[in-house]
Amino acid sequence: MENLWGGRFKKEINKEMKEFTSSISFDQKLAVYDITGSIAHAKMLGKCNIISQEESQKMVVALEVILKDVQQNGLLISGEAEDIHTWVENKLKEKIGDVAGKLHTARSRNDQVALDERLYLKEEVKKIKALLKDLQTSILLIAEKNSDIVMPGYTHLQHAQPILFSHHLLAYFYKFNRDKGRMKDLFKRMDVLPLGSAALAGTSFPINREYVAGQLNFSMISENSLDAVSDRDFILEFLSASAILMVHLSRLSEEIILWSSKEFSFIELDDSFCTGSSIMPQKKNPDAAELIRGKTGRVYGNMINLFTVMKALPLAYNHDMQEDKEPLFDSVETIKKSLFLMSQMIKTLTVNRENMSAGLKGDFSTATELADYLVRKGLSFREAHKIVGEIVLYCINNKKNLSQLNLKEFKLFHKIFEEKVTELLNPHAAANAKTSYGGTSLKRVKGSIQKAKKLLK
Ligand code: ARG
Repeated sequence: MENLWGGRFKKEINKEMKEFTSSISFDQKLAVYDITGSIAHAKMLGKCNIISQEESQKMVVALEVILKDVQQNGLLISGEAEDIHTWVENKLKEKIGDVAGKLHTARSRNDQVALDERLYLKEEVKKIKALLKDLQTSILLIAEKNSDIVMPGYTHLQHAQPILFSHHLLAYFYKFNRDKGRMKDLFKRMDVLPLGSAALAGTSFPINREYVAGQLNFSMISENSLDAVSDRDFILEFLSASAILMVHLSRLSEEIILWSSKEFSFIELDDSFCTGSSIMPQKKNPDAAELIRGKTGRVYGNMINLFTVMKALPLAYNHDMQEDKEPLFDSVETIKKSLFLMSQMIKTLTVNRENMSAGLKGDFSTATELADYLVRKGLSFREAHKIVGEIVLYCINNKKNLSQLNLKEFKLFHKIFEEKVTELLNPHAAANAKTSYGGTSLKRVKGSIQKAKKLLK
């Protein structure tokens, strides 16, 4: 296949050099966007009389055939083309001959690739937002189904205070909601047309950038040609938002792995999202969660990768920037699959109500209730904290839990204790007492579920 350059060269390109600089093996992913962008450009060239109406028409018709072909049959890549832009132009030449050479008027591969990537990522971000929404829907489904189950709430992975399982799940609902917000936000900055910047300086042809923006559904056009061809902030933002999203997915994965272990036995994962062991017949492994946790590494890596590529690059385009594609594509695919599997895994898991609350027996996680009780009776919180600490120590020394103490024993630590104190020590009561806004009482959580549902609409 013919290169888009060559006139000033006396020698053929070295074979390894050719392979080394080629990007067709990965940028073919942009084929549909490259052709779509080319159609808009060809229309504009005709409309602005930069080429004739007839030439424009010819190109558009042929490009539409190529587009359909790529969409229906996939891309039959020729290893010969240097990149996807070359491939498309050569295809066009096969169809309409030398007129194809006019397509590149007032355009450079530099603004072309920036366009392709924005078109691609805009589509993918929409899909990712939908997948995030689906995951949130799964979370709400399980939270609502199990809204009143009490479990230990942890800090430092030590039992802290009783909470509702639904409250714990909703914590992730809001993390993913922020992830969705970040995607929405970066979409706005990505929604800017770079085409028309040409190589770096703009063009002397009377182009109509607003027309192209309209054709391609961009809400703005770039202000500075140098910036437009050298900017990859939109990818850096996406990779950063993806890294944060993977933080959340990895934390949820870790909890799913812990909860489905024998020690916790809080949940049971559906068989269809687990695998077995080649040697241990009894094994059922939470692979999907493990792999999502593991794939966090590559998504962080992709982010660091492109930050490093972009650092200290002089303006405007540099071939280094061709290296932006593989990390971008990899993160897009990884987070899409991870989101899908996480959503399915959540949707299909079953909750073990008894085991969730069993761990609360004798774990002292209602000690704060006791301290709050003393505060309500007039003690300072510090004083109350010290007294309850002494009660816990007494229990440990006497192999008792808080609910096994009688009033006489409580009174050993302070005379202010009254009979009603024992009612506070029930984990359900403790959770339901957390009625502050955003707290874990059943009433609050039910309200929160309704609010979350509205957010999803
Ligand atoms: N394959 C290139 C990339 O991905 C396209 C732009 C090439 N521009 C150039 N002047 N060589 O960045």
